[in-house]
Amino acid sequence: MAVKSDAWGSRVGLILAMAGNAVGLGNFLRFPVQAVQNGGGAFIIPYLICFLIMGIPLLFIEWSSGRFGGKFGNHSTPYILDSMVKGRLLKYIGVFGIFTNIAVAAYYCYIESWTMSYVYHSIIGTFDGMSQADVATFFSEYVDVGHSTTGIPYESVIFYVVCLIINTYILSKGLKGIEKVAKVGMPLLILFGAILAIKGLTLGTSGASDIFPDANAWDGLNFLWTPQYSSLLDLKVWMAAAGQIFFTLSVGMGTVHCYASYLDEKDDVALNAVSAGFMNEFVEVVLGSLIVVPIAAGYLGLDWVIENAGFGMAFQTMPYLFQQWGGLIAIIAGVLWFGLLFFAGITSSLAMGTPWIGFMRDEFGWNQNKGAWSFGFMALILGLPTVIFFQYGVFDEYDYWAGTVSLVLFAMLETILFSWIFGMGKGWPAITNGADIKIPVIYKYIIKYITPVMLIIIFMGSVFKPLDNDWSGNMDNLISGKSWVLDNGSIIKTITHAGIKEQIATASNSAVITQLQDKMFYLNFARFMLLGLFAFISVLVYLAFLKRRREGRATT
Ligand code: ALA
Repeated sequence: MAVKSDAWGSRVGLILAMAGNAVGLGNFLRFPVQAVQNGGGAFIIPYLICFLIMGIPLLFIEWSSGRFGGKFGNHSTPYILDSMVKGRLLKYIGVFGIFTNIAVAAYYCYIESWTMSYVYHSIIGTFDGMSQADVATFFSEYVDVGHSTTGIPYESVIFYVVCLIINTYILSKGLKGIEKVAKVGMPLLILFGAILAIKGLTLGTSGASDIFPDANAWDGLNFLWTPQYSSLLDLKVWMAAAGQIFFTLSVGMGTVHCYASYLDEKDDVALNAVSAGFMNEFVEVVLGSLIVVPIAAGYLGLDWVIENAGFGMAFQTMPYLFQQWGGLIAIIAGVLWFGLLFFAGITSSLAMGTPWIGFMRDEFGWNQNKGAWSFGFMALILGLPTVIFFQYGVFDEYDYWAGTVSLVLFAMLETILFSWIFGMGKGWPAITNGADIKIPVIYKYIIKYITPVMLIIIFMGSVFKPLDNDWSGNMDNLISGKSWVLDNGSIIKTITHAGIKEQIATASNSAVITQLQDKMFYLNFARFMLLGLFAFISVLVYLAFLKRRREGRATT
């Protein structure tokens, strides 16, 4: 058994780090947007059901797999899986658990770096007196590298590199460094969030103006919190809800396995998993829903929010909204909000560095420093295209393949491995041994039957998504011998760029055609980078296998 080369300092530190891993930009930026885009109250019920039947089971699976693999000195998914199931090829499924983290960190740190820049601009008063349109223009200029007039030349690149350096430096200090950041960052984040949430709750109609006379924060809250049961039959809403649950809990990524692999064999995983999961849900469902949507609806009206919901919405609106509160309060609010986002982001991006570091230490004896700086370097090489070619959709391409599809695919495969190949005979004790709570036994059956089936439906649903999401119409077609018509948003059609090709075919303007062709070129480049990373990690896993075999340590 290999000696553990890093360890958690305390249980509180571990839970805060694990909650920090989950609580991220997704809670404050992605969740409200997903909720608004999927009908507000229509989204909430599928979301909560997905949390209970996929989120919690996946947390149990990943925490217990991590602790199990850690017993054998494995701290990343390829060899954690290898210690659980026999089969020479199965460990390559674990490549996802390193790949996803490096790829997501590459673009995630870019958003994290926006928050640093926005703290800076809030302090120096850049947003003073700006109209809503000015704030929105500031954001589009900021991400337009080389053409920006936001202040410092190449500002977005500079903040991005600084952000990566901060992450890498903290990672080089090991788990203790991560624990320290989580212990400071998580309470601050909750405090900042609570202050802004109170504002969201008490704003009411006081933000209405001549330009937006119907603005009302309550409309935002009612929209999010009035359940609509009709959505229970809409697969699109279910997919969005499941995608948000994976992203927000950081399941299907490999970080949870890695953090849990530093636990002791006798440590609890059940209560820890539930505590970190519920802490994340509190921050997401309570705080995440009380800030951007009600405050934006309170000043700009709900219709504006519904029309403009998108990932950058908070950057395009919040500085303007804070300006309405006046001078010093606007500065404080800007620092609180973007500071909160920074802490949320960094506690997640740090987690993304750990599987690579653990893997290189376990397999090739790399020390913490070398592991951390090589991670930072790879994230930089992979991330620079998302910064420089942001306008061409490279960022979104990474988010789609690494931040969405890979999570669902890995979650599906690992659940099947855990429930059916490792088997619940070993799996249930792996979850419950040393548990400080009694897990309802129904979860044994949920993990074995319901979670894998739901994951298969969701994954297959995304691969074969029918045109206009019309499942019943396409089923009827199929039964009557006609063909299944895929939607351009299905994974199959996305691979072939069907949507862009259609746009090119119908465009009459040659400048638009060139623009779309350029876009396709950059998207292919993004895919080449991602595939290159996946192949590189697979080769390393193979080399590690050869090394283990030479040393007589290979299990399969
Ligand atoms: N779980 C992290 C988030 O929500 C990745 O942002």
